[in-house]
Formats: sequence, C-alpha cells, structure tokens
Amino acid sequence: MEKTITLSVVLTFFVVTNILNVSCFKYEPNWESLDSRPLPSWYDEAKIGIFITWGVFSVPSFGTEWFWWTWKEVKNPALVDFMKKNYRPDFTYPDFAPQFTAEFFNANEWAEILKSSGAKYVVLVSKHHEGFPLWPSNYSWNWNAMDVGPNRDIVGELAKAVRSKTDIHFGMYHSLLEWFNPLYIQDRENGFKTQDFVRTKTMPELYELVNRYEPDIIWSDGDWTTTDVYWNATNFLAWLYNESPVKDKVCVNDRWGSNIRCKHGGFLNCNDKYNPGVLNKKKWENCMEMDRYSWGYRRNARLADYFSMHELLSEVAETVSTGGNILINIGPTKDGMIIPIYQERLKQLGSWLGVNGEAIYGSKPWSHQNDTITKNIWYTSQIAVNVIIFPLI
Ligand SMILES: *[C@@H]1O[C@H](CO)[C@@H](O)[C@H](O)[C@H]1NC(C)=O
Ligand SMILES: *[C@@H]1O[C@H](CO)[C@@H](O)[C@H](O)[C@H]1NC(C)=O
Ligand SMILES: *[C@@H]1O[C@H](CO)[C@@H](O)[C@H](O)[C@H]1NC(C)=O
Repeated sequence: MEKTITLSVVLTFFVVTNILNVSCFKYEPNWESLDSRPLPSWYDEAKIGIFITWGVFSVPSFGTEWFWWTWKEVKNPALVDFMKKNYRPDFTYPDFAPQFTAEFFNANEWAEILKSSGAKYVVLVSKHHEGFPLWPSNYSWNWNAMDVGPNRDIVGELAKAVRSKTDIHFGMYHSLLEWFNPLYIQDRENGFKTQDFVRTKTMPELYELVNRYEPDIIWSDGDWTTTDVYWNATNFLAWLYNESPVKDKVCVNDRWGSNIRCKHGGFLNCNDKYNPGVLNKKKWENCMEMDRYSWGYRRNARLADYFSMHELLSEVAETVSTGGNILINIGPTKDGMIIPIYQERLKQLGSWLGVNGEAIYGSKPWSHQNDTITKNIWYTSQIAVNVIIFPLI
C-alpha cells in the first residue's frame, strides 16, 4: 500500500514538470533554479576534451601562464632574474604583446590536430587573467589580439575551422578577474562593494563572446577572490539559459565565485586536476595539463615533464569510469605552433580511442568502478559492461 502511494506522488510530480517545460519556463537568477537545469546530454557523452592555453604569456614562455603575476606581484627570483638578464630595465609585461606574432597559426591545421585526438570538444582560452582577449573585443581597447600582436581574430578563426572541419564542440575559457585592470583593483580595494569592473568590462565582454561566437561551453575561471554576488553570475547564467543564442546546448562549469565552486553551476571542476578517484554522481570534469608544470607553453620543458601516454590513458580510464570528463591541456607557442610532442600525444590518444572508444564515448559508470586487487582495471558500461585493463608497468 505504501509503495503505491509513493509512486502516484512521483507521477504527479512528473506531470507538473512537463507542464512547466511546455509553457514558457524561465530559470530564475538564483542557484536553486539554475542548478535544476539538466546538463545538455552531449557533454556527458563526449567524455574527452582538449584545453588550449594561449596568450601573451606564450611570449616569455618561461615559468607558467601566471608569468605577469609571478614576476611583478610574487617577485619570484627566477623570473626577476630572467627579466634582468634578457630584457632592458624598463621592459613591461605589455611590451611582450607585439611579440605574440602567431605567424604560423593555421586554424584549419589546428582543427585537424584536434580531430586526430578523438576529442569531442575543445576549450580555448579566450582571455586569461592577464586580460588579453583573443578576439577583437569592444571592451578592451588596444589590448586584444586584433589590435596588438597577431592582428587577427583568433577565437573567430578557430571557431570557424573547428565547426567546418570537425564535429568537435567549440567551447571557451574566460577569466572573470584581470590581475592588473585598474577598475578591478579599485573594486577590490573597495572590498568588492563597488562593481565598476563587472559592469563595464568583464560581463559586457562575456555577453559579447556568447553573442558573437555562440560557444558550446563557457569554462569560467578567475572567480576565487570574491563571491558570485560581485560577479553578477546568477544574472548572467539566467540570461544564458533563458535567452542567449546557445540556451539549449551550452554547458558551464562551477567557477562563478569563491562560495560556488564545487557546489553549484553546470559540471564541477572544483580545483585544477580534480579527480576524486571514486564515483561522483554529479557530473564533473578533470582538467589536467599535459606538461606537469604549466598550462602555457614552456620553452624550457624537458621530456620527463610531459605525461607519458601510459599515464595519460590511465587518467582517462579512471576519470571516465568514475563519472568524469577529461579536459587535456596543450600550450601552443607564440608563433602559433602546436609542438610535435603535443601532436604526437594527441594522435596516440586518438589511436587508442579508435580501438577503445566504445568503452569511453557515451558510456555510463557501472556498479563497480575499479578492481581493488590489481589497481589497473577500470569499468564503464554501455548496454554491456566494458573493462579497461592496462599492462602493469
Ligand atoms: C563593436 O564595435 C564595432 C566597431 O566599432 C561596432 O560596429 C559594433 O556595433 C560594436 N558592437 C557592440 C556590441 O557594441
Ligand atoms: C547584473 O545583471 C543584471 C541583469 O542583466 C543587470 O540589470 C545589472 O545591471 C547587472 N549588474 C552589474 C553590476 O553589472
Ligand atoms: C577502487 O575501489 C575501492 C572500492 O571499491 C575504493 O576504495 C578505491 O578508492 C578505488 N580506487 C583505487 C585507485 O583503487
């Protein structure tokens, strides 16, 4: 008797949900409502993505993509010394921008390389914490890839190539904060009680990015210095889900404020390299660099600094079997090349997926995730169960 009652309650709820969907249902700008949006199914099915970290930091190409901050704010001795030895005393970080030449950047070639990896989505860094947009932003005068450096619309070219040459979903990383933007610094010094930077720079730019390039993913970052209230995040997401040109297909992560990470939003990124190792019911993503020490390209990287193919594939298997997607990062050079070691890793990943893709794409976690005795067996399921076994090394 009790069971029957429970069932009818569930059915009533289901009907109500359906009615809401057919009438003009609107997400409200609060997390309870925004979290109720189902993640578009393409994202979970895709499993494998490639992250591309590129910007002015690719010019010094030493240290990490945090070069500006590490040099000027942290005053890291290695970077201070590097600048002293190799550049004139009054050289500033913006002086690197004209050397971000991108003369070998060929978006069609990049699209082919991405395709060879078997990845189903790509996330391009459209603007990192240095605040340099890789597209001709109306809100970043003389500090974007059209006005300085490449003199090209990098985002536009890659979006077009990926869409015309592959079936890969095109997504974009976007940093909310900009380390040295005077408006941001002013708001921060006001204890984030004022929102001039949000109102006139970072949010208008994000709307521009969505309207102009219609990304399948907004991979937000640079949120951690303050809460979602300062960033106006719920208002942006309500617009994104209700009215934007990508409202039905777009996926977002969880980096929308220091109080939001790992709790709200679309899929969970939590921290970089997040990989809980056990089944996580809420969709999550493991973003990892292929160079252990940097997301941006490092000229002084050594072979051992790059993850081996075996390490990469065991990360893929563990991530997918525990319910995650994996986003593997590469860092192009300032002239626009994806160096051969990255090309080779991506191609090998593609060959592995060519054979084993059935256990990855569109799979679901199984009742067991891993084998506890040998530690090298991870399970996924389709209609049947897949077993991914690695040779032990
Ligand atoms: C951006 O700037 C261009 C050129 O100045 C102008 O034509 C366009 O209307 C502007 N777009 C927006 C959204 O302000
Ligand atoms: C926040 O978003 C809402 C809705 O778009 C807008 O009316 C408001 O001006 C925004 N606030 C800031 C500080 O940008
Ligand atoms: C494997 O599975 C067990 C329980 O099923 C779990 O405790 C363990 O953390 C998992 N991960 C690894 C790497 O063994």
